[in-house]
Amino acid sequence: MGGTNPYIRQPNAPKPKKAYKVTFKGDVKDVVIEVDPAKVPYGETGLPGSLLDIALHNGVEIDHACGGVVACSTCHVYVTQGAQTCSFSEDSEQDMLDLAPDVRPSSRLSCQCVPNGDSDVTVEIPSWNRNLVREGK
Ligand code: FES
Repeated sequence: MGGTNPYIRQPNAPKPKKAYKVTFKGDVKDVVIEVDPAKVPYGETGLPGSLLDIALHNGVEIDHACGGVVACSTCHVYVTQGAQTCSFSEDSEQDMLDLAPDVRPSSRLSCQCVPNGDSDVTVEIPSWNRNLVREGK
């Protein structure tokens, strides 16, 4: 299951114009992904080009119980670098983050957070949501 929620306003997220890196930090190892603007969005889950889309396409597993339609908070991550280059956090995302554990100023729902590529982005996956290596991809 996956996609976008047609009943909420979609954030205005410009496509990246140059390559940038997304680093996913976990307790096993960091995963650095070079994002080629010609290849995003990947069409996985969540908003096109979102951190969740990037993660899943590159074998970084982040829980996403609702399939990226802003109906859960299981894709909660911390954007610790490059947050200013990410799409605005809409009210629907903030409402779901209110239900998430250990919310911080850097908290985002990875399915709703779309970087514009102006700088590299670092993402910390909360300890309860770490499963960095997906088998068979
Ligand atoms: Fe449910 Fe992101 S996967 S809100």
